[in-house]
This record gives sequence, structure tokens and C-alpha cells, in this order.
Amino acid sequence: MKNLLSAICAAATLLLPGCTPKDPVEARVDELLSRMTLSEKIAQMNQLSGRTDMREAVAGGTVGSILNCVDPAEINELQRIAVEQTRLGIPILFGRDVIHGFRTIFPIPLGLAATFDPALVEQGARIAAVEATASGIRWTFSPMLDIARDPRWGRVAEGSGEDPYLDAQMGAAMVRGYQGGDLSSPDAMAACVKHFAGYGAAEGGRDYNSTMISERSLRNTYLPPFKAAIDAGAATLMTSFNEIDGIPSTGNSFLLRDILRDEWGFDGMVVTDWNSSGEMVAHGFAADLKDATRISVNAGVDMDMMSHGFSAYIEELVREGKISVKSIDKAVGNILRLKFRLGLFDNPYVDASAAAQACYTPEHLQAAKLAAAESAILLQNHGEVLPLENARRILVTGPMADAPYEQLGTWIFDGEEEHTVTPLAALRKRFEVVYVPALAYSRDNSTAHLAEARAAAAGCDAAVVFVGEESILSGEAHSLSSLDLQGSQSQLIAEVRRSGKPVVVVVMAGRPLTIERDLANCDAMLYMFHPGTMGGEAVADLLTGCIAPSGKTPMTFLREAGQVPYYYNHNNSGRPCKGNETLLADIPLKAGQTSLGNTGFYLDSGYGPLFPFGYGLSYTTFVYSNIRLSKQRYGTDETIVVEYDLQNTGHRSGTEVAQLYIRDMVGSTVRPVKELKRFERVSLDAGQSRHLRFELPVSELAFWGMDMQYRVEPGAFRLWVAGDSASGEPVEFEVL
Ligand code: GLC
Repeated sequence: MKNLLSAICAAATLLLPGCTPKDPVEARVDELLSRMTLSEKIAQMNQLSGRTDMREAVAGGTVGSILNCVDPAEINELQRIAVEQTRLGIPILFGRDVIHGFRTIFPIPLGLAATFDPALVEQGARIAAVEATASGIRWTFSPMLDIARDPRWGRVAEGSGEDPYLDAQMGAAMVRGYQGGDLSSPDAMAACVKHFAGYGAAEGGRDYNSTMISERSLRNTYLPPFKAAIDAGAATLMTSFNEIDGIPSTGNSFLLRDILRDEWGFDGMVVTDWNSSGEMVAHGFAADLKDATRISVNAGVDMDMMSHGFSAYIEELVREGKISVKSIDKAVGNILRLKFRLGLFDNPYVDASAAAQACYTPEHLQAAKLAAAESAILLQNHGEVLPLENARRILVTGPMADAPYEQLGTWIFDGEEEHTVTPLAALRKRFEVVYVPALAYSRDNSTAHLAEARAAAAGCDAAVVFVGEESILSGEAHSLSSLDLQGSQSQLIAEVRRSGKPVVVVVMAGRPLTIERDLANCDAMLYMFHPGTMGGEAVADLLTGCIAPSGKTPMTFLREAGQVPYYYNHNNSGRPCKGNETLLADIPLKAGQTSLGNTGFYLDSGYGPLFPFGYGLSYTTFVYSNIRLSKQRYGTDETIVVEYDLQNTGHRSGTEVAQLYIRDMVGSTVRPVKELKRFERVSLDAGQSRHLRFELPVSELAFWGMDMQYRVEPGAFRLWVAGDSASGEPVEFEVL
């Protein structure tokens, strides 16, 4: 059936004057554009949500893309109307938020980042593309690349954390995975790098809020992940809701034309976020929707997601000379190019009968389980309580122990909780389990069953307490001012602690929470960012030692929300903290004021974080030694070769994420105290040692300096190779 439809389409295309599928894409774009009316061009720039009946809009030739329609039969029906019942037969592009899986749900992107495993993340994106394209979805609004330094912001869940290099590696991996090697392949899904730009810097961590980002900070911190993803071939980009220093990104031609098109040479398609064009009226940047439409198109936007302003006002604005036909042709050319590159003109339909069998295959589920296992971060393991090798009977308690929907995390429009393996289900296959939920959900303030959990723990060999956040407590528009565990979860942990038995806490959350007080009430803590469909099996493998934890913190973990923003790659002040500052409890009464010897710290919580970026324990220990450079002085065109030895000094095998950091000691502008430049996962058996190396081109030490030129500045540098951003001793080198 699918081949017959494709043949009909190909024949129909052949009948079109002037072009064949064998012609170059640009020729096909130009030829089709030359035959389009203004009204037909405007339709291509209009994206609507398919939550309502789209047949009339498609038949009327008023829409170019539809999001949120996922039924393959319905997609085929709408596509047939577009291809066979409209004058030019231009196919519809169907999009969806496939953020960390379509049906098989992987860990949320912050959890994927914690794996520090781009290859696995790429595989996950490929699986998501195979499942989603089988239903006719050929465009995902992912990867989200917003640098996030504020865990109060609910959307930290969707990104890769605080570091530009890690974010860039993960973003490029997702683009490769979604798009595959050939965008015209039926299982290729166009990626959409978002939200361009600076969205994660929202003041107060309040979603959609203002950001104040200098051009230098934009270029040195926030833009590099987007550049890397675009260099990896990202087909589309989405503008962000926020304004930067008073200019909403959807109307920012410096971003959308000067940087994206002129500097980076991006020839893909730019879509707004949902009504982000219309929201420029609320921003106070546009007088009304017509004005917002004018601003968006002239700033470089190609497609309008759900403001309805493009379809309502572009024709009038062109007539008034406020938008040029040239701009319209440029925008529509970008849209048509994407559709030709996706092969939609030659192969517009999907085999609806094959959609379901593409999902939840054993290979997909196995990959999701491995991703969940690698995403887990072992934060504490006193007395090597983990793995639970000597426990036969365990208490399983807490609101996240058997929460199949909640453990999937945010942005799982198409995930199905029926397929979730919860920790309770998985642990029941490995242990004699006593199950006391104690709390019904993460916000449950009840204390009625805490004593029951304690009593049950007393009769077991160990207790495993599953806490965290319901799925809805993170993600879009879900910021928090307190990062403590919600409800009575901390009380539950403390109560179970009173049983006197070994206590393991497993957290499943959408962000780094402030869990210092909970660490004091348990022996071990395993931290997972909502692990997805196979999270339970992953937890069971980790708790039994089948798999050793290897995850690392992709964001700094704080003691208090009041420390925000705190991130490892910060600049130094003129009075860097020494770590020996006198805290609140130790200040004598009537202490005299002095301005000498002070540093910037908190009287109550000191200076440092709870856990630094890149931190995570294993069931074994690792020692780095013999860190040495190929030489001491480098020209800017040379490559630094860093060699080091890594030994597993424990009695279990394990995987370490070796990280390479640098510091530029003196710059024309101040430079971060550390910057991640390389990482690699290294698996070692007990006692095994390996000689390893990193290669770092000196050119990657470049930054935008005082004169706003991108260059490597000569001078002294330090370099670390360690298991996290706070460890290790530096070696020094110089750039000439
Ligand atoms: C949302 C999000 C964006 C998403 C889009 C479509 O508001 O900001 O990330 O892709 O709308 O759902």
C-alpha cells in the first residue's frame, strides 16, 4: 500500500512542470516558489496545533505544518488532502515534542546528560526517531540546549545542565540521532534546537522571565551549544519566549539574522515558540498582533507556531510595504527546502499499519534501561551499604516506589505508563519485598503511615525509600522557590532511619533538589532525574550491583535554594572564598565589624555547594596519576596531548567519567575558574589500570575577549584531569 502511494506521488510530481525528484533541492525550491501565490506562501509559514479537526484548514490550503497530531491514520488523511486536493500539493510537515523518547521513554534530558555518554544519547534519539516517524512525525522540537544554572527553573529538566561543553556534546548527539545520516530517509526526524536564546537565564528561575545577558556572555556561554548542534546538521531552530536586555528573541534580528544566518551560515528553518510572536505584545515590544507579525518576519522568523498572526496579517503587511516579498520568499524557501530534504514531496505518507510494532521493541527497552542505569548518580554510600548483596528481605517505601506515570518525567506526551517498570515491580523479582507506600504522592503531607514504615523496616535487612517529585512538579512553567523534598518525604526518611536498619534513599526528580538534611538520615543515596520507562529495572540492577553507578552531576547540587545561582564555571571575585570563613554559629557576641580579609560567602551556609558539577561515586574507587602534557609551551595552532593513568583501586569493577578542565589564568576579560573541555567514560575491572590520553587543540581555548574578537589569548593556563570539577591538582602550560 505504502509503495503504491509513493509511486502515485512520484508520478504526480513528475507531472509537475519543470522538476523531478532527481533535480537538486534548490532547483525544486525555486521552481515551486515561482508558481506560488502570496496566499499559498503565507500558508506555508503557518503552523497549527492538531488538537482540533484540521481537515478544513488543510483543504483550504491555509496551513503548512501541524503539531500535536500523532495518529498515523489521521496524519495520512490530512496529508492526502494536502497532496491531492490543493492546487500545488505541498505536503504538511507534522511535528511533535519528542523530548526524551516517543513511546519508549528515556531519562529526561538532564538525566541523559548525567550519563556523560553522547553515544548512548545518540542511540536514544535514534530510537525516538524510529518510533515517532513510524507514526508520521517527521519533526521534533528537540534538543533543548538552554544552559541552566538555576534549579528553581522547572525546565532544567529538559536540558543538559550548566556546562556549555557537555550541553554541546549532548545536543550534537541528539541531532545526529534524530536525523540519522540521511534526512530524506523515512525514519529521519528533523531536529529543532531550542530555545534560541538565553531562555535558561530567566531572572529568579521564573519561567519566561527577563534575562540580562551581555553579548560577550551570550557568545561565550549560551550560544556555543547551539553552534555545535547546527554544525552537527540541525535542520531547524526555535526562538525563545524570553527577552534579552529588553529584546524578545522572536523579534531579535541580531540573533536570527546577524549571528544565525550571516555568521553561522544556517540555511535551515526558524519556527517561533508557541505564540511567542504574539507574546511580544505582552512584552511591550509590539503594539498588537499585526505589529508583532511584522517584527517577527523582519527579524528572520520563517514559521509561526500558533499566534495566527502570520496567516491574519502578512498579506496586508506586504501590501503596506512593511514586509517585503523577498523576505516572504526567503522564509518560504527555508520551509520548502526542509520539506524537500525530508523527502516529503516524494514520500508523504506513512504505513499506519507498521506504527505500533516500531515501538517498545526489546532493543529499545534495553537501551532505555541502560540509559536509566548510566544516568543514576551515587551521591553517598556510607559503609558500602550498596550494593545490597547481603539483604534478602527489604522494605520498599515512599511515593516514587510504584509511580509508573511520575517516573516518566516531564514532556512525555506519548509515553504510556502501562509500559513503565517501577522499582517496586523490579525489586520484587530480586528480593523478598515488604511494601509500605507511606505517602500517596510526593506532595503528600500525611504522617499517618510513617511509623508503619519504620516498624516494617525493623523487620527487614534494609530499607529503600523512593522519594522525589511528581512529573508535573518540573518542566515548563513549573518553577519552585524551595528545592526541599515536598510533603512529608523528609520525615519519612528520618522515621525509617529510626529503625536502625541500613537505609538507602533513591530520588527521582526533575532537577537537583536540596537534599543535605536527607543525606544525614540515610546511609546511601542514589539520585536519578526521572528515569523513564525502564527506571525500575535500572534501579534493581544498580541496587543489586549488576550495574555499578557511573552518573555524574550535570548541574551543581546546592545546600540551599538561597545559593542560586551557583555553578562551577563561575568567574572569581576579587576576594575568592578560602573555605575557612567563620559561619553564623561561630561568630562571637558583639563581634566587631571589619572590612579586612573578608570574602564572598553566606554566614549560614558557607560558600561551597553540596556536590560540585561532574560529581558521582561508584561501587569502587579510582585514582588518577601521572598527568602529563606533551610539552609546556604551545602555539595557537597546536594540540595539547594530555596523558594520564587511571586505576581502579577498589574490589569491584566500575566506570569512571574522566574529565578534563582548564583555566585561563589571565585574560583581557576575567575567565571562569574552570571550564570542562573533554570527558570520557572509562571502564576498569578491580585493580586494573589504564594509560589514557586526551587531545585538546589550543584553538578550543578561544573566547570572546575585551575587543569582542574570538581568539586564544597567550599566557598561563592550568589543566586538571579528575573525576569531578572540584578535584585534582593542576598542571601548568603556556600558550605563546
Ligand atoms: C512550548 C515549549 C516548547 C515546545 C512548544 C510546542 O510552549 O516552550 O519547548 O516545543 O511549546 O509544544
